[in-house]
Amino acid sequence: MKTVLGGAEIIPLCARLIQEGEVVGFPTETVYGLGADALNEEAVRKIYLAKGRPSDNPLIVHVPNVEEARKAAEVSPLAEKLFSVFSPGPLTIVLPKKDKIPYTVTAGLDTVGIRIPSHPIARAFLEACKTPVAAPSANLSKRVSPTTADAVFDDMNGRVPAIIDGGPCSVGIESTVLSLVGDPTILRPGGITEEMLRPYLPTVKLFSGKVKVAPAPGMKYKHYAPIVPCILYGSVRGAEREYVEWTGMGKKAVILSRKKNVPYWEEKGFSYMNVGDSGEEFASNIFRLLRYCEKLFDVILVEKPGSGGIENSLMDRLAKSCGGKTVE
Ligand code: TXA
Ligand code: MG
Repeated sequence: MKTVLGGAEIIPLCARLIQEGEVVGFPTETVYGLGADALNEEAVRKIYLAKGRPSDNPLIVHVPNVEEARKAAEVSPLAEKLFSVFSPGPLTIVLPKKDKIPYTVTAGLDTVGIRIPSHPIARAFLEACKTPVAAPSANLSKRVSPTTADAVFDDMNGRVPAIIDGGPCSVGIESTVLSLVGDPTILRPGGITEEMLRPYLPTVKLFSGKVKVAPAPGMKYKHYAPIVPCILYGSVRGAEREYVEWTGMGKKAVILSRKKNVPYWEEKGFSYMNVGDSGEEFASNIFRLLRYCEKLFDVILVEKPGSGGIENSLMDRLAKSCGGKTVE
């Protein structure tokens, strides 16, 4: 299959492909998605095939507005309120599903995750599709989520008919998945933080523990992991020791450093990449840099994010990328 890669001008073509039951890569503000008509089970099965993903992991349904969300799920007044405050944006709310959403999308669950993305191309694309679009992140299963169209192309060339290029994703890590079925629970921390939700959900808690069904990424499957070892470091001294050890064995190491520590690595003459200054910059750069570095280096040393806000969500992803490996 030949994969067409184009900008906003291919939105009409891609909307038609969706209506014909095909799978399309498209940008959102979080990460790129791999979309199909959520009402067409055959089309949804093609997503799992393209990703090489087990079909027991539920997909998020993307819609352009709350009115369309109501057609896919039971939108409670609380959910309505949260959508009005945080959407369009990086928040997915898990709600009881309507009958028209097939179990192929929800992996057999009676609930569905609904998201209204804010990326202008995602919005135009969803409007043009005129059907809800089920989409996971557009990476091959177990790989780092793509935050550029090139990264999607790397994983999906020849596997999907088209990819829409909307530039680099601004948030850079996946949406917050919030369940409002039962006690409000954050199943996956993301762009909308616990602190941001708390004024509306005083009792909201972060999911911890074991899941049997409905895993959020990383709970059941290995996610976000580069193809080379990745290690979190808590101090420049720890990173330096690790770097010297790897390079001493003839391996190529790279340090993903916060901007303030860049002069330190510069002075040492070590290989490094700047992840940025704020937590927001760090999040928007991290997946792109991991994908870039895994091609060029044998080990990636990543500066540990701080705590609070988006840095908690970053830590969640990086703990998985590094498989828990840390040096202090
Ligand atoms: O930012 C994002 O959320 C991106 C973009 C493309 O929208 N999508 C994304 O999809 O990250 P995915 O499939 O990689 O992760 C969605 C996760 C699922 O793995 C699942 O754990 C959780 O959301 N989820 C979806 N539906 C659910 C449900 N009904 N109950 C519990 N968790 C659900
Ligand atoms: Mg994913």
